[in-house]
Amino acid sequence: MSMSVEYDRIMTEGDNQLEARLAEQEVFEPSKSFVEQANVSDPEIYEEFEENWPECWEAAADLLEWETDYDQVLDDSDPPFYEWFTGGELNASANCLDRHLDERGDEAAIEWVGEPVDEDDRTYTYEELHREVNEFAAALRERGVEEDDVVTMYMPMIPELPIAMLACARIGAPHSVVFAGFSADALATRMNSAESEYLVTCDGYYRRGDPLDHLDKANQGLAGVEHDTTTVVVDRLGPNGDDFGHDLGGDQVDYGDLVAEHEGAEVEPVTRDAEDMLFLMYTSGTTGKPKGVKHTTGGYLSWASWTSQSVLDIEPDDTYFCSADIGWITGHSYIVYGPLSLGTTTMMYEGTPDHPERDRLWEIIEEYEATQLYTAPTAIRAFMKWGEEFPDRHDLSSLRLLGTVGEPINPRAWKWYYRHIGDEECPVVDTWWQTETGGMMVTTLPGVKDMKPGAAGPALPGLDVQILDTFGDEVEPGKAGYLTVQKPWPGMLRTLYNNDERYIDEYWAEYSDTGSDDPDDWVYFPEDGAKIDDDGYITVLGRVDDVLNVSGHRLGTMEIESAIVGVEGVAEAAVVGGNHDIKGEAVYAYVTTEDGYEGTDELREAIVAGVEDAIGPIARPEQVVFTPDLPKTRSGKIMRRLLENIADGEELGNTSTLRNPDIVEEIQQKANAE
Ligand code: WTA
Repeated sequence: MSMSVEYDRIMTEGDNQLEARLAEQEVFEPSKSFVEQANVSDPEIYEEFEENWPECWEAAADLLEWETDYDQVLDDSDPPFYEWFTGGELNASANCLDRHLDERGDEAAIEWVGEPVDEDDRTYTYEELHREVNEFAAALRERGVEEDDVVTMYMPMIPELPIAMLACARIGAPHSVVFAGFSADALATRMNSAESEYLVTCDGYYRRGDPLDHLDKANQGLAGVEHDTTTVVVDRLGPNGDDFGHDLGGDQVDYGDLVAEHEGAEVEPVTRDAEDMLFLMYTSGTTGKPKGVKHTTGGYLSWASWTSQSVLDIEPDDTYFCSADIGWITGHSYIVYGPLSLGTTTMMYEGTPDHPERDRLWEIIEEYEATQLYTAPTAIRAFMKWGEEFPDRHDLSSLRLLGTVGEPINPRAWKWYYRHIGDEECPVVDTWWQTETGGMMVTTLPGVKDMKPGAAGPALPGLDVQILDTFGDEVEPGKAGYLTVQKPWPGMLRTLYNNDERYIDEYWAEYSDTGSDDPDDWVYFPEDGAKIDDDGYITVLGRVDDVLNVSGHRLGTMEIESAIVGVEGVAEAAVVGGNHDIKGEAVYAYVTTEDGYEGTDELREAIVAGVEDAIGPIARPEQVVFTPDLPKTRSGKIMRRLLENIADGEELGNTSTLRNPDIVEEIQQKANAE
């Protein structure tokens, strides 16, 4: 046996022992070296915040620069329409840019990595970012954008997206960012709902090496907008986009021209009330119509800032990397507003993690010496499947902390991340939160708490999270119940855009006395199931409403169903989520056809295309099963639980309450046959 083979054998054995130890271990302490430098390391913080509630949240507001101090931390006189930091005035763009200029003007604010390797990466210093935001703010204003006009952005991960967001914030125009992977219809629905007259988009972007046309999709969406619009188009592709043959319409202007026309312009940040809207973000709910979640300037920004500092442990000198898309809330709070409000360097990557090879993220982390990585369990599961040889090719020792968000992470994936990316030195924060909460809610403070893979952790200080049964009583440790938040917090949504009634119905009605004006009678219900252990660590079990979580993307089953029944030949459709190794959940559709139509491959393709047109490729069904009937109760309600059993290949639950019990087996056979 040669030396090197012997060495390999010993190393492999060592590896196996390490794997075995990790597999058993249930509690992980943060490393000493991390704790010593952590932004928050005093365990007293939990008690202090509880005793000093709601004034404890001054700690969050103090991270910002206010033009006028607030009079009151919390105004809870009209629950659930809570107001935070009332009387205070500030501007989000000034907080993310202007105030850092003196000390950090020459430091990188954004490190942008384009998908083509080393071709057109860009660094924006705070000075440069400030300049371009000012120029674009001046341009928007000149185009007629006024305070409180909603500006929609339909853009991929290019620097002009955060620039446009900050330009809007500067002039007090709320933004509404629509994920670039959403379809034209989805864009139109959101622009119509927000009565948004302005759109910022781009010609295209790169996906796995090829230029992708985006403007065509944007134009199709604009055709469905009911009012007049003005569109600004960023030229991302340059000559590589020439093949698409785009000509800008009469109501469309080139971003580069606009910025050049306003070269050197300075726009005084508009003074905004703490409670003024900073942005709208549409998200999926239980009905077919997406909900416009309203976030405010003072409360949201404080929350994004405070959680970035205390959970992600961000410091100005860091190079922080979140691989989410700014089209979702994670990118809003933890690529743009949180990190920039703290004056750090935030990274943006345009492409996918497997282009040109499966080590792209690790290559980026090594090259930029990233200090934190915040990503999603679905990505971690994919990395794990690809194998550790990809991270092993790179020096990841610059990393200090790892985070996950978006869906539950299984302990095996957590441990893989901890070991192969963090080298057992970096704490992993598993952060539970939602579009509606504005920022993190349940997770460990990494400099204070031990970690338990699979459990997100306790509620953050100052939050009162309880797991209740259907009667509103707290469940025993270990038992499944419903996650609830008992007290308001600064980052919370304020309402659903133009729909206070739906705001109450969706989030509060379940556990509140809605006739009461005592805040103690109001409980926020995020529609997640959860359990809690004896140490107060919460394991989130997933949505309890008809919302799916596909690769960390939130999709309403009703939205998908209404897309499917819109296809000619479809009579009825039921959509459920089935377990999926990488995506967490995948879309399964059960469809009945109209008389005269059959479940052909053509119809199946039309259904898939219909879903992609209405929502986007992320909602593409994994399987479409045609069936003569859907399992229904005698009152006609579709029994989704049974369809979920089928999707998961499990034994069927009780079918005795069905009007048509035989159909279930028939569907199961059809599903298995495919
Ligand atoms: C789920 C994403 C388990 C949850 C920030 C929530 C999670 C929904 C976690 C919100 C986590 C998010 N563990 N589940 N760490 N984080 N979720 O609005 O079901 O896109 O209600 O916000 O994702 O999704 P949203």
